[in-house]
Amino acid sequence: MLQTSAKVLEQSPLAEGIFKLSLECKELARQIHPGQFFMLKMPAGNDPLLARPFALMDTILDEAGIPLGIELGYHVVGKVTSLLTSLKSGDKVELWGPLGNGFPDFKAKHLVCVGGGIGYTPFFAVCREALGLRNYGDTSRKVHAEEVTFLYGTRDQGHAAPLSEVEQLGVKTMISTDDGSLGHHGLVTELLERVINSANPPDKVLCCGPERMMEAVGRICLGKNIPCWLSLESPMACGFGACFSCVAKIKQPDGTWDYRRTCVEGPVFTAEQLVF
Ligand code: FES
Repeated sequence: MLQTSAKVLEQSPLAEGIFKLSLECKELARQIHPGQFFMLKMPAGNDPLLARPFALMDTILDEAGIPLGIELGYHVVGKVTSLLTSLKSGDKVELWGPLGNGFPDFKAKHLVCVGGGIGYTPFFAVCREALGLRNYGDTSRKVHAEEVTFLYGTRDQGHAAPLSEVEQLGVKTMISTDDGSLGHHGLVTELLERVINSANPPDKVLCCGPERMMEAVGRICLGKNIPCWLSLESPMACGFGACFSCVAKIKQPDGTWDYRRTCVEGPVFTAEQLVF
């Protein structure tokens, strides 16, 4: 695990209360792969509560195609994310990572990614990697999808981040909003069921978002025997296994369940592993 300071390259708004932060950190950018995360600590003081986990949104490449930095997406919901909005180009933050297992190797005919709220951010890198458009981390990773569909559920049109970047990669996108102001009026799981019941159902599903949404996605995929990996958004204080603030109920081989640390053994688990 790398611990480093990173320079803010850019801060850009994506939607209402949702921002993208671009950071220069070559070593971390070289090592991290989709579904992994890193801890970010604000420079102000030594308050450990000022550290938070953030998923890799994507890497930033230099003109020669070499990883130069990373992007993260965040929704302003509390103290740390409010402080993040004050960062300007040239400011420094502390990072440690890459952390967690990330999404596994897979081969898919039709990969469906389901992102809810700020949980949509890991899928930019997932789409690029699956379509063979960018390598991440360990170059021995074997990830491939012939076709990718991205289902994005959000509150309303104002909170809908743009998906044009993945659409330009050839990814089909579908949006649902709670109030019907954009796309399907209803739940993103209804879009998933629509795709599953279509002539072109998915053979792999990846998901990240609010707990109830992931539980519903996991249950749907289990019911249809579709392999599904869920990236949990557990609260985390340390990110490397020391504090046990991130535990989740995980099924054991003998049929019982036990608590497991999401930051070390996750954040990605199969739907079969999770106790809903
Ligand atoms: Fe501390 Fe997982 S965040 S053990």
